[in-house]
Amino acid sequence: MPYYNLTIVDNSFIKRDLTILRDKNTLPNEFRLALRRISFSLAIAMCKDIELLEIPVETPLETAKGYKFKNEVILVPVLRAGLSLVEPFLEMFPDANVGHIGLQRDEKTLKPVDYYYKTPKFSDSSLTILLDPMLATGGSAVAAFNFLKERGANKSVLVSLIAAPEGVRKLNNEHPDVSIYTTALDRQLNENGYILPGLGDAGDRTFGTF
Ligand code: PRP
Ligand code: URA
Repeated sequence: MPYYNLTIVDNSFIKRDLTILRDKNTLPNEFRLALRRISFSLAIAMCKDIELLEIPVETPLETAKGYKFKNEVILVPVLRAGLSLVEPFLEMFPDANVGHIGLQRDEKTLKPVDYYYKTPKFSDSSLTILLDPMLATGGSAVAAFNFLKERGANKSVLVSLIAAPEGVRKLNNEHPDVSIYTTALDRQLNENGYILPGLGDAGDRTFGTF
């Protein structure tokens, strides 16, 4: 079955930084920096989901055509690994409000266990950007969008770093309206639900909790 609403973002900076992120010898500091740099490419790529409003702007000399974003942007990182994407996305969307969702996969069942929710109010003009570097089984992303949609997040996208085919299929099935942006569609999951070739545990590698 083909995937849909899936954009694989690629450029030379991403190729270099994804290699740094996959490398098992990369230390947390360099891991965070590479993830931060890739976030800028992802933010720019997902601009195709952003509508513009034309506005006049006064230059020192005359009136020119200008633009502003039509949607109010709400960033929602999934704790913990999504936290690394917040700062670079806030640089690109400085007016965004930020919600947080705490989900942790149970190591045996691989089902997400929720432990924290705090989100701003959503309106019809909200564009919600869920930030989570790993889309593995898809359980965490589906649980996050279930929660967000119940609270009125009507237009949503997922920004991830690496996706597994299993996760893309699950998200396509359960939230067909959600656009997925990622930098790699990897081969498969292993028996422990880790993405192959992947980069290991994104939260542990970001925060040094091995
Ligand atoms: C990781 C990752 C995703 C989830 C993806 O978080 O950041 O949230 O796994 O897996 P899934 O698609 O199979 O649900 P984890 O549960 O390891 O929590 P952590 O970030 O606190 O380490
Ligand atoms: N979560 C991770 O951090 N890495 C994986 O490969 C799968 C889920």
